[in-house]
Amino acid sequence: MIRLSKSSISDLEKENVLRVLGEEYLGMGQEVKKFEEELSAFFGRDAVCVNTGTSALHLSFQAIGLKEGDEVLVPALTYLATFQAICATGAKPIPCDVTEGNLLLDLDDVKAKTNSNTKAICLVHYTGNVGDLEAYYEYAKKMNLRVIEDAAHALGTVYKNKLIGSFGDIVCFSFDGIKNLTAGEGGAIVTSDAAVLKKVRDARLLGVIGDTEKRFSGQRSWVFDVEEQGWRYHMSDVMAAIGRGQLQRFPDFKKKRQTLSQNYVRLIKSANLPVVFIEMDYDQVTPHIFVVKITNGKRDQLRDFLIDNGIQTGMHYYPSHRLTFIKKTSGTFKLPVTDKMYDMILTLPLHYDLTVENQEYIIKKMMEFSNEQ
Ligand SMILES: Cc1ncc(COP(=O)(O)O)c(C=O)c1O
Repeated sequence: MIRLSKSSISDLEKENVLRVLGEEYLGMGQEVKKFEEELSAFFGRDAVCVNTGTSALHLSFQAIGLKEGDEVLVPALTYLATFQAICATGAKPIPCDVTEGNLLLDLDDVKAKTNSNTKAICLVHYTGNVGDLEAYYEYAKKMNLRVIEDAAHALGTVYKNKLIGSFGDIVCFSFDGIKNLTAGEGGAIVTSDAAVLKKVRDARLLGVIGDTEKRFSGQRSWVFDVEEQGWRYHMSDVMAAIGRGQLQRFPDFKKKRQTLSQNYVRLIKSANLPVVFIEMDYDQVTPHIFVVKITNGKRDQLRDFLIDNGIQTGMHYYPSHRLTFIKKTSGTFKLPVTDKMYDMILTLPLHYDLTVENQEYIIKKMMEFSNEQ
């Protein structure tokens, strides 16, 4: 079976985990502190680690003060986590359409849906691509809106010579098992906003003021105060041990994902398949998933054919505006491009251990299916 996605774990991560296990302190301590320092050096500004990408988003939305009645503009073509993180604050996610070429948030729809309740725009860097970031930020600045970047897919992507996460309002990453970098599970919030940093550092530890500093110096807060709602969202040293090894290997991960994606483009072009690519530049983007649009209306049959031939594929994502809970929370929305795109999108296998031979086999099978039609 050619897997759609998988982790790549080397001796480095295994040795790191064994070292931490040997210390017999598995909570949030020195290893998380070091991982945060290394991530902060990587981004050139402060990173705060948490237990999932979803909690990174939730804490960020909470830290900007979202409350009931507030609205956040967000593309419907995202993982449900983005929507749930907004809902968790009591605010309303407002599903927006995407642009057909790159499947990223449609700024015209954002403009049409902005009103006096709008507090933030949530960008989703779908596949790892970011689109015209400057245009989104310009509009947000003009309308006095916060910007949360859901960069779960975009670790390593570069925009105008700047690494995603190294700039921008608040940028959230996921380190779940199949991401560009994994910590088993995990996430990080990266920002220059000192007030947000303080809030998320406390809120990940039930809101206990200054508990992060205590834990990083091997202590605990026995007597403490809490001023705001907090959660048990901290990262453990075991997770950080995996993440630190992965960060060391990251240049290799990045190169492999870019090369494999470029190779897909080359193979698919020469195979003359009924496929349209998502517009992006693989020299800039570090792709998390490789998504194509199937133009002959046979996406589902193709998926069945591929799985019968040992090839897993995906459909990223079932649009969030179709979900009962989101309809109840946000109301009913018509998003014609998202709906049209959902019927066409197909995610092909992409991970560090995928080989060129695997790719050639996948394209050969896609050609076979195409010729049978
Ligand atoms: C676009 C997007 N946002 C948010 C998340 C949530 O991250 P996590 O799974 O680490 O909670 C994911 C991960 O699956 C994602 O793909």
